[in-house]
Amino acid sequence: MSQTRRDILRMGASLGFGALVPRTLLAATSSPISIVASVANVQLAPSDYPKTEVWGFNGQMPGTEIRVKQGDRIVRRFVNELPQASSVHWHGLRIDNAMDGVSGLTQDAVPPGEAFDYEFAATDAGTYWYHAHNRSMEQVARGLYGALIVEETEPVDVDREEVLILDDWLLNPETAQLDPEFDAPHDRSHAGRRGNYIATNGTAETELPVKANERLRLRLINAANARIFLLGLSGFDGWVMAYDGMPLEVPEKVEGDFLLAPGQRVDLFVDVTAEVGEVAHLVRFDDETGASQAAFPVEAAESSTPRRTSPVSLPANPNMSVPGTQSAKRFELKMEGGAMGSLRSATLEGEKTSFRKMVAANQFWSFNGVVGMTDAPLAELSSGETARVKIHNDTVFPHAMHLHGMHFREILENDEMGPLRDTILVFGDETREIAFVANNPGKWLFHCHMLAHAASGMATWINVT
Ligand code: C2O
Ligand code: CU
Repeated sequence: MSQTRRDILRMGASLGFGALVPRTLLAATSSPISIVASVANVQLAPSDYPKTEVWGFNGQMPGTEIRVKQGDRIVRRFVNELPQASSVHWHGLRIDNAMDGVSGLTQDAVPPGEAFDYEFAATDAGTYWYHAHNRSMEQVARGLYGALIVEETEPVDVDREEVLILDDWLLNPETAQLDPEFDAPHDRSHAGRRGNYIATNGTAETELPVKANERLRLRLINAANARIFLLGLSGFDGWVMAYDGMPLEVPEKVEGDFLLAPGQRVDLFVDVTAEVGEVAHLVRFDDETGASQAAFPVEAAESSTPRRTSPVSLPANPNMSVPGTQSAKRFELKMEGGAMGSLRSATLEGEKTSFRKMVAANQFWSFNGVVGMTDAPLAELSSGETARVKIHNDTVFPHAMHLHGMHFREILENDEMGPLRDTILVFGDETREIAFVANNPGKWLFHCHMLAHAASGMATWINVT
């Protein structure tokens, strides 16, 4: 047994794995017409702890799963029963700009007691998620998110699937209540709000029985405010089928570990290779050793199914090509600031401001010398134009840049193109370049998905007319 395995088991023992977790949170299939945001009490910490007060959708955390078929319309009345204004963003879906749910850019935040009707077509199959988009660093940290699954029109070659929403929570170790300091300057100026309790689908005790040789589709969603998950598989053979909802032309065999930054998703096909009586794991590497992010005890199958051959790719979504980028309009995005950075001053609310004064305003980051949203967009594009954006991370922290409304490809060496994504992780001191076709008119937010960073300077927008 590998070291990793042993550590997983040890960790498992200390967390009290073994009790079967009720699957009601995972198995929600009905799609109510309303999604009601309200305070909810859920058993987030292990059962010998009190329930945790969170904010949920329809009394659940994660919120009710939304599941439709590609091409369907999604119609939801968002009802706000929170003590705070809110709105809902449908992360990764290419939808009408007016439905994008960004308070202050595409709509006003919905006040407590009021409602907003969202309606749009689910053009693309894949794994998406929805989450609050007003005071996101607080509202997402409180639990306002859920999975949004758009199924392919034809069945795919798996026995079944599981949606795994990964998150971390900053909990008081005695009371299991959320740390209420959502605007903590330290979080905003460093790596963001990171939790001390790591969960999958709202529990650290995720246990999902599987059968020997079964093929599962795992849809992983990182809903954490700031944590970058470094993951791997044990007891499975796996392939990456899609990133951020968009299928790869050729599935990628999972060898070793892979990263999942805040906002990102990955679709895996995994074949159970562990034997009956063993436990397969989605492994999280926190340091040298691995911990279990989700456990899959292997049960005997009724009839022994043989292992399948390597999967074929999922069908591509429509109109996703990024054509030649030579004639593209070019833009630069220089990220500066944060703790241990070299930023001395930046423009804050129209005025040149020293870093010291920025700190006093709880603002820490700048894009191209400006803190936060500007009247003029980063890029002004007409419909159909191709844009390239070179992102320079002149800070010491990684940032997960998310573009609303359109997917992009990274421009790699020799002008090769990376996979379609909506969120790219850019490490400190790195420069990365993305390209996309501006084929969706509207005002699209482009921000760091480390939500404390977005709230303290790292947000801009792109205008497509
Ligand atoms: Cu997942 Cu601007 O958001
Ligand atoms: Cu960031």
